[in-house]
Formats: sequence, structure tokens, C-alpha cells
Amino acid sequence: MRPKRIIKGIKFKIRTRQTLKKEGRLPSDVENVALGISSPKIAEFTANLYRETKLLDKALGGSKFNRSLEVGCGFGRITPWVARYSKEHHAVEPEPALLALASKSFPKVKFTRATAQKLPYPDGYFDLIVSFSVLHHIPPGEYEKSIEEMKRVAAPNATFFFHERVRGQGGFKFRSWPRPVETYEKVLAPYKLVKNFDRKVDDVATDPLKIVQVMVFKGK
Ligand SMILES: C[S@@+](CC[C@H](N)C(=O)[O-])C[C@H]1O[C@@H](n2cnc3c(N)ncnc32)[C@H](O)[C@@H]1O
Repeated sequence: MRPKRIIKGIKFKIRTRQTLKKEGRLPSDVENVALGISSPKIAEFTANLYRETKLLDKALGGSKFNRSLEVGCGFGRITPWVARYSKEHHAVEPEPALLALASKSFPKVKFTRATAQKLPYPDGYFDLIVSFSVLHHIPPGEYEKSIEEMKRVAAPNATFFFHERVRGQGGFKFRSWPRPVETYEKVLAPYKLVKNFDRKVDDVATDPLKIVQVMVFKGK
């Protein structure tokens, strides 16, 4: 490799890290680009996606919403399934490469580059807010800010759908912060937990992710 290209590569890495730090994100967000798109286990990927869309339906049933927000949509893996629940679906994602892929695939969804900590919407704007495996990647301090911001943009009668790691190893080493359901209940107040269940939804395959729970919170 030519020295110029190496220097360009290093500069790119430094810039990326600086941006991540400024936005309170972790390097794992960038690695997700590769992880999401080039999963070597296609069967596992599709099986998981199938189950996860079932989880959404199990949690939200026949509900209909006016405006929904998906926080940390990645490359739009579950976006079309969330979008079915509302008249107008919005999604935010801080990672530009992922956001570009998502926007290309779903032109009717309103995508915006943003973090959960700083959502570019007015107070009380959404009646459905979804975090699918996002909050457990946000470290302490930033996590509380994210919840406050999500509550700010939620209508008083809003529903929150969370699919998050509640058990298992965590910390900076694992780039994951499992938090028990009670922790979510505390920070989400006055929204109340109306449903929670393990991620396992079918008996066809054993699901390795028993550490994940689905939680549904609702306002008055
Ligand atoms: C495990 S992926 C899940 C993506 C998508 N929700 C899905 O289920 O396919 C976590 C996503 O959260 C995003 N993310 C990380 N930190 C974030 C933050 N502070 N605010 C919003 N999204 C964040 C990452 O860029 C990544 O796309």
C-alpha cells in the first residue's frame, strides 16, 4: 500500500473516533456496518429477523399509531415491520453508511442522522417509540440522557417498544450494558410497563439470546 493511502486511512480512523466521542457513541457502531451487511450466517440472520418481526407483533398486536420513531435503525433491517404500525414512520441512525443504506431501501420512511441523546423533534411528537437492540449499546450517563430525550419526544399516551439485553456480561469490554427490567421501569416513569417477555418465540430453533427481553411501556 502507498504511504499516502495509509496516511489517509489513519486520518479517516482518527476522524471517525473523534466524531464517535463527540456524539457519545462507541466504535462498535462502526463495526456494525460490516456486521450487519456481511453476516456469514445468512440462515441465522433470516431466522433471527423472522423471530424479531414476530416479537414486534406479539408486543404491539393490532395497535395503530399516528407517528412512530425508530431509534438506531441501523441499515433498516426491521424498519419496514415497524413502519406498518403507523401512518408516518421516522427513523434515526448516527452512522452515515447505515443510514444511507436504509434511506435507499425505504424511500417513504423519514430518515434523519441523529443520536438518541439529541432527537431533532418537538416535544410529544410520537405515539410509538422503538429501540431494537440499541439502548443496551449506550453506556451509563449517555443512556439516561437517551431515555430522557425519548420521553421528551413521546406523547403523554405514547407506547415504547424495547428489545434489550437485560442480563449477561456487560461493560466497555463487551460494548454492552445489560440493565434489568426494573431499571427501565424506574427511568421510564411515568410510562408504565404493560408487557414484558423473553425473546424466545418459537420451538423450531433454540434461541441463544435468552438474555434479551421485550418490554412495552405505555402512557395514559
Ligand atoms: C445492534 S444495532 C441494531 C440496529 C437495528 N435497530 C436493528 O435491529 O437491526 C445498534 C444500532 O444502534 C446505533 N446506535 C449506537 N449508539 C446510538 C445512539 N447513541 N443513538 C442512536 N443510535 C445508536 C448503531 O449505530 C447501530 O445501528
